[in-house]
Amino acid sequence: MELIKRALARAFARFEAVFEYAFGQRNTPFACLGALGWYFYWIVAATGVYLYIFFDTGITDAYASVEYMTHDQWYAAGVMRSLHRYASDALVIVVVLHIFREFAFDRLRGRRFFAWLTGLPLLAFIYICGISGYWLVWDQLAQYIAVATTEWLDTLPVFGEPIANNFLDSTTLGGRFFTLMVFIHIFGPLFMLLLMWIHIQRHSGAKVNPPRPLAIGTVGVLVVLSVVFPAVSQAPADLDVVPAELGFDWFYLAGYPLLDIVPGGQLWLYIFAAFLVLAVLPWMPPAKRVPAAAVNLENCNGCTRCFDDCPFSAINMVPRTDGRAYESEPVVNVNQCTSCGICAGACPTSTPFRRSGPLQPGIELPHRSIADLRDELVAGTEKARVVIFACDTGDTDDLEEGGVKVMRLPCVGMLPPSFVDFALARHYADGIMIAGCAEGDCHHRLGNEWTIERMARRRDPYLRQRADERRLCLSWLPRGSSRRRQRALAEFRAALSEIDDE
Ligand code: HEM
Ligand code: SF4
Ligand code: SF4
Repeated sequence: MELIKRALARAFARFEAVFEYAFGQRNTPFACLGALGWYFYWIVAATGVYLYIFFDTGITDAYASVEYMTHDQWYAAGVMRSLHRYASDALVIVVVLHIFREFAFDRLRGRRFFAWLTGLPLLAFIYICGISGYWLVWDQLAQYIAVATTEWLDTLPVFGEPIANNFLDSTTLGGRFFTLMVFIHIFGPLFMLLLMWIHIQRHSGAKVNPPRPLAIGTVGVLVVLSVVFPAVSQAPADLDVVPAELGFDWFYLAGYPLLDIVPGGQLWLYIFAAFLVLAVLPWMPPAKRVPAAAVNLENCNGCTRCFDDCPFSAINMVPRTDGRAYESEPVVNVNQCTSCGICAGACPTSTPFRRSGPLQPGIELPHRSIADLRDELVAGTEKARVVIFACDTGDTDDLEEGGVKVMRLPCVGMLPPSFVDFALARHYADGIMIAGCAEGDCHHRLGNEWTIERMARRRDPYLRQRADERRLCLSWLPRGSSRRRQRALAEFRAALSEIDDE
């Protein structure tokens, strides 16, 4: 499994490098596939509402109403129809990429299983909504889908009489199923929205909007596509004639040709098996159990910064229980905590300057304590003129060379800014490099964003004013960028030498 993930991650890294070059790190579509999913959903929903105004929901008049929209009102409803179709196709593309990417970058195991499992029914709903949409046009493609789907459904032992009988020929054609499809196509997306909302419940501040330039560019491309290649219907459905040739939407209907070679019952089995395999992936293999963040009430003043910064909604602020004059205290939900340590980086008591008593902040990771971090920084730093704080996922193995010390953290968001000040003020280093994931694509979601804000003194806890910014280098790079990281380090060291020569 590890090998597959690594190969996939490498493939993504190569492919994404091109996009990063073209769009810049913050606007690359790969960093916000989930957000693009939401975006395409809203485009599909908005255009769908417009189309519904002109759509005739009766089976006999549906085709004519779609023709009216496509040809008579091509400039508005026609464009809306095309946008509706292309945004639906785009939704499939981004969701498939999203699934592969979350898998490749291992964002599904351990306590992160929730989004993966809630994503699975979403996947099914995307297809149910898409296929029912093609049905509503009631052209030859819809006829093919109606016949193939009902025959396929009949292989399940759930219907009393074969539902495919509704579509035997024009004399048996019943509007019953058509009405059901209209119903599914309207209420399916509403249910999907509910699932999408559940899907991000364990993400605080989930990214549901792509960056503006990307949003504008994407909708622009879809509009151009809609005008140049408008979506059109095929010949009207006629149950007395078997359609000979069909224009196909492979994004939604790719499974249908399989029905010609695989018995329907078997295909259900394969689909069920595929979902089962997907459903157990978060435990393949089970993640190592890492202790969750622990609160030390004695050192907590209830400031809520840990609560504000936790990317996985794993902290709740509850009324104070120790009788001290503070309003609230944090409680960690151990089933949601991914042990990223970002809360420790947010806590104002995580300061290495502390002299009185042992260094124990209000919240921290028991297995990677702030006191150990200080000890590690102080120990053997005499020869290290650059200290690199790197996240576990970064490519920093080959950076440790003469004069460079690499200190690894679960996420660079765990680093309290006071450590930068401490290392520089006490001359433990001439320069500090923080080496984390690409901007907008932090493995722990928000670690690099909060670090950027804290170091720029825009978010509490701020880096102290006296810390010389020229001696701090923030390096945000995607995985598989060891050469670029080495270059960044060399440039930083050269800049430090210049400062020292001043
Ligand atoms: C309509 C379809 C979907 C939409 C709109 C969607 C959207 C999102 C969004 C907005 C996020 C949060 C991104 C962030 O702020 O970090 C997310 C995360 C995620 N999604 Fe989806 N998603 C969809 C389908 C799926 C499917 C089908 C799967 C897998 C079966 C999936 C797996 C995940 C995983 C594993 C995460 C990351 C969890 C983590 O960081 O711990 N999603 N998705
Ligand atoms: S370690 Fe990370 S996930 Fe756990 S409580 Fe702290 S910030 Fe939240
Ligand atoms: S950031 Fe620290 S002091 Fe503030 S509420 Fe959390 S644990 Fe307490």
